[in-house]
Amino acid sequence: MRQSSLVVVANRLPIDDSVAPDGACEWRRSPGGLVSALHPLLRHTPATWVGWAGGTGPAPTLPDVDGVRMRTVPLTPDDLRDHYEGFANATLWPLYHDAVEQPQHHRRWWEAYQRVNRRFAETAAEVAEPGAVVWVQDYHLHLVPGLLRALRPDLRIGFFLHVPFPPPELFMQLPRRAELLRGMLGADLVGFQRAQAAHNFAQLVAKVLHLPATDRRIGIDDRVVRIGAFPVSIDTAEMAALAARPDVAARAARLRQDLGRPEHVILSVDRMDYTKGIEQRLKAYSELLVSGHVKVRDTVLVQVAVPSRERVGQYQILRERVEREVGRINGEFGRVGEPAIHYLTQPFDRAELAALYRVADVMAVTPLRDGMNLVAKEYVAARVDDTGALLLSEFAGSAAELPQAYLVNPHDLEGLKEGLLAALHAAPADVRERMRAMRAHLREHDIRAWARSYLSALDQTGALVDRLTTPGDAPVAVPTQPDRSAVRADRRAGG
Ligand code: ADP
Ligand code: G6P
Repeated sequence: MRQSSLVVVANRLPIDDSVAPDGACEWRRSPGGLVSALHPLLRHTPATWVGWAGGTGPAPTLPDVDGVRMRTVPLTPDDLRDHYEGFANATLWPLYHDAVEQPQHHRRWWEAYQRVNRRFAETAAEVAEPGAVVWVQDYHLHLVPGLLRALRPDLRIGFFLHVPFPPPELFMQLPRRAELLRGMLGADLVGFQRAQAAHNFAQLVAKVLHLPATDRRIGIDDRVVRIGAFPVSIDTAEMAALAARPDVAARAARLRQDLGRPEHVILSVDRMDYTKGIEQRLKAYSELLVSGHVKVRDTVLVQVAVPSRERVGQYQILRERVEREVGRINGEFGRVGEPAIHYLTQPFDRAELAALYRVADVMAVTPLRDGMNLVAKEYVAARVDDTGALLLSEFAGSAAELPQAYLVNPHDLEGLKEGLLAALHAAPADVRERMRAMRAHLREHDIRAWARSYLSALDQTGALVDRLTTPGDAPVAVPTQPDRSAVRADRRAGG
């Protein structure tokens, strides 16, 4: 068994399988903020990533990805249904996002959550070398820090939550609230996106577990668990370099031509998720078409919505509603060869995403609630000529860092319409000034700065930080693997 001094434990592995245009199989980065954040960071680091490969068969043996070892954790069909689709994505996900959809509670889901968390903890315990740092990610794995500490007290354990951590009124609904809190407290450091989340956590620990807790430290048994805010980010330089590439610029020009050379291109890029405010955005756009404030002849909306968690009922309903609304709007307002909305559900590679960002005069990022939202940051990083207006929800974690965006409350339809019009018609000098300020912020606060601040708090020797935060200069390789058909079939079922 190969062991590593750094182990990342996350439900989702950073690679997804796809079929290249020539029919060959290839792995590519899975869509989603967690992977987008961690993948560039770990590249060329001798770490192990413990995660699920997206299927329900036996765990496939995966090749190393850019030097990072992949260690798969298998899920059975019951685990998939009750852990991933159930407790993680139908109980915790909606609860943590302001209950914008009703969280569901089933005792069977809790059994599966415990079982799968134990499997992840056992796998992490196997692959961690003595004294290693193990960095556990996100809401699928709240119990892993506690389980892992019991198995391997020699480890330094970090936990980071990529999604919002809700206020006590909401979290208190959870039948298993005490166990979840205790599980997280198995870590040495519990990190959140925002200070408010750390505050919520401290309040809950004091209230539910009766432990001494401040917004920075919690005492449990004979240990101190530190807590804090570490807003996650992107590889800003990588996105900027990609967007500046001549082939990407040429692709952006081509896209504009294919879109009919409109005066304004509005872009949205989301996972198909009810937290992203897609329906509210479509409604705002449709009302602007009705009132004549926006005309299809000179403005187009490109909505990229990659399907996600496709077997979860709330996601199926959302997709149907979005597609019906896109069809209605196109039917009513489109013209031959000029749809009002260009609707795309495909996953794109990074260069294509960069080209889309480059072509967008307005980027509409209007989630009802979002832990951070890296799409907003990617857009800013890609605007290498300082143009482009970012329309951003106040309820995205990134709004706290990007106050120069055109901020909107996506629950307020009139406000959303006004924000969209303000972004569409902003004076170029104003747009430029705002974009410059946001770009300057992201140059400093990139993914390496995030890792540095989190890992130096976790591992005070500093060794790990030096290794991880020195930019690698090797090109991004897309590994290929000849036979992964079993994985692909199951991946569709997963997410
Ligand atoms: P979430 O983590 O909730 O999905 P984020 O905005 O934080 O939201 O992260 C989404 C990530 O997924 C971004 O890095 C974005 O580039 C990527 N992504 C979104 N849609 C696609 C797509 N169609 N193809 C490839 N990557 C995508
Ligand atoms: C969010 C979550 C991640 C998750 C991603 C994609 O970013 O915080 O943990 O991996 O969404 O969702 P999926 O269910 O496909 O893993």
